[in-house]
Amino acid sequence: MYYADDVVEEVRSRNDIVDVVSGYVKLQKKGSSYFGLCPFHHEKSPSFSVSPNKQMYYCFGCGAGGNVITFLMEYENYTFPEALKVLADRAGIELPKQEMSKEARAQADLKMTLLEINKLAANYFHYQLKQPQGRAGYEYLSKRCLSDDTIRHFGLGYSNKTSNDLYRYLKGKGYGDSILKESGLFTISERGTWDKFWNRVMFPIMDTNNRVIGFGGRVMGEGEPKYLNSPETKLFDKSRNLYGLNFARSTREKYFLICEGYMDVIAMHQAGFTNAVASLGTAFTTQHASLLKRYTSQVVLTYDSDDAGVKAALRAIPILKEVGISCKVLNMKPYKDPDEFIKNLGADAFRKRIDEAKNSFLFEIDILKRGYDLEDPEQKTNFHTAVAKKLLEFPDALERDNYIQAVSREQFINYQDLKQLVSRTAARLGPAWAETRQTAGYRGYTDSGGPSLAAVGAGERGAREETLYEQRGSLAAGGRTRGPGQRKREKDDGAKQSQRLLLTWLIEDPRLFDKIQGIITPDDFKDELYHTVAQMVFDGHAAGNLSPAGILNHFINDETQYKEAAALFNASLKDSLGSEEQKKAFSETVIKVRKNSLDEASRTAADIGQLQEIIKAQSALKTLHISFD
Ligand code: GTP
Ligand code: MN
Repeated sequence: MYYADDVVEEVRSRNDIVDVVSGYVKLQKKGSSYFGLCPFHHEKSPSFSVSPNKQMYYCFGCGAGGNVITFLMEYENYTFPEALKVLADRAGIELPKQEMSKEARAQADLKMTLLEINKLAANYFHYQLKQPQGRAGYEYLSKRCLSDDTIRHFGLGYSNKTSNDLYRYLKGKGYGDSILKESGLFTISERGTWDKFWNRVMFPIMDTNNRVIGFGGRVMGEGEPKYLNSPETKLFDKSRNLYGLNFARSTREKYFLICEGYMDVIAMHQAGFTNAVASLGTAFTTQHASLLKRYTSQVVLTYDSDDAGVKAALRAIPILKEVGISCKVLNMKPYKDPDEFIKNLGADAFRKRIDEAKNSFLFEIDILKRGYDLEDPEQKTNFHTAVAKKLLEFPDALERDNYIQAVSREQFINYQDLKQLVSRTAARLGPAWAETRQTAGYRGYTDSGGPSLAAVGAGERGAREETLYEQRGSLAAGGRTRGPGQRKREKDDGAKQSQRLLLTWLIEDPRLFDKIQGIITPDDFKDELYHTVAQMVFDGHAAGNLSPAGILNHFINDETQYKEAAALFNASLKDSLGSEEQKKAFSETVIKVRKNSLDEASRTAADIGQLQEIIKAQSALKTLHISFD
């Protein structure tokens, strides 16, 4: 690890987790813990807990968990050294200069170095723009009405026509080939190394801390692809970053504007709409939505007015709804995108369109309608049925009725008739409806029988076809299919659940260690992670310094591991400590853990002698009684 264990532990223990988390999440005391709305997933009632005793946070909804250091890493997107530095400063601790092996340090510094390289590259591109060789780029941006201020604000630049000048520049700064390769800025082949971006206007992509994590480049003139983006790197995760969010995050507006591209974001910011962001070269994802949810609960979609833009909106709406962001759709007509609109009609007209933006559900109905010929009575009936079915997406009767009213008004369908149709449709679909409703956002169109989505999608551009692919892939991956290994996994889960319960109990009430003496040892925890954690828990107890949050320090370099480790200390204990039921449950849990351990051992016993030992222990377990007197 980067810093010595005791340094990390000192920094951790001097920053009270309740204090730190309170700076981000509104917490309320409930029993011995604090609760609030989880900042890592969307929820309406608080399941995010912060325990002052354990010095840990844990979300019973999404399973996010960890200590004060991992909280900052997750929330602020900090690396471990960054989080440690912030917390050290906060507690007035001076961190020692890092003494460590060259290799270990290179590994830990990788991300920092990539950030340095990106920053140098961004400055390089920006400098070229005002040079004679950058004229094409500068003229292009001027022609697109960007002011010098805007160009500076967004750090725009130009990549030269020369084939490897950036490469030579960075080599001159002392960076080696392997790190340059990781930056995603170069194409490396047997014949040499070339700049990936060439004769393009460059858009540096920044994270919320204003650090350059990647680039987009628009070709000058006609050329393919029109926009080229950095590949995913250790820094750049397309589905977790939004272009413009570094500025938009501090907007005073209640809502955000979401658009398709770089130029749209920039044009909107230049016109004073500093709450605009774009997902980059990829479809809008759930991760994007969760990221936005930290800043707003309302968005206005300002996608292109063409078919691909409508389709992108139809995709984004359910994703936004899912995380609890309400959304409206702006009508851009007769212009194609926000950039063109503002150039032609100006900021005031655009603001007016924002005010008039359409509720996303009513927008969806408008689009749905396009798939039907309403002159034809049969198709008109089908449309009404599809509308009724779509209205069933609202589980709440009152809300549903409000929408029935709105739709009947907008689409000139008699309110009573529509209401009846909705009820009949619900009855016809039966209980299956309740289940499919969950995914109705995605499936509504294909289910409805209306050809609208396919029709809308026809003729879309190549680049977005690819993004659709990405999204289809992730949807399929998220499907719930039961594999053949499911049964075994359930059994494992049962065993692990008991182990988690036991560890949580031991942490909550260390007196219970006496009760399991001679029965349970760390070796009864078979899973590697569980075993490691149990060993530390038992050792900590023996040494009189048991600290769950401190134990998590050991897993800080692996997000999956510290989350899983955090879960080990946060099984939900149903009964209050000390009750009769709880005593019984505790005994049962101890026996389960021991029994699972013995069963497992009997499967792997090396010889008859060992097996006999195990059988003896198994029968002894049957008469085991844990006394609480
Ligand atoms: P201009 O012609 O420069 O005005 O482009 P635009 O801002 O109107 O962009 P367009 O509507 O063509 O595309 C919107 C966004 O989709 C762009 O900002 C890119 O992020 C992305 N995009 C467009 N074309 C491509 C492409 O060829 N490849 C990739 N990867 N992304 C693209
Ligand atoms: Mn455009």
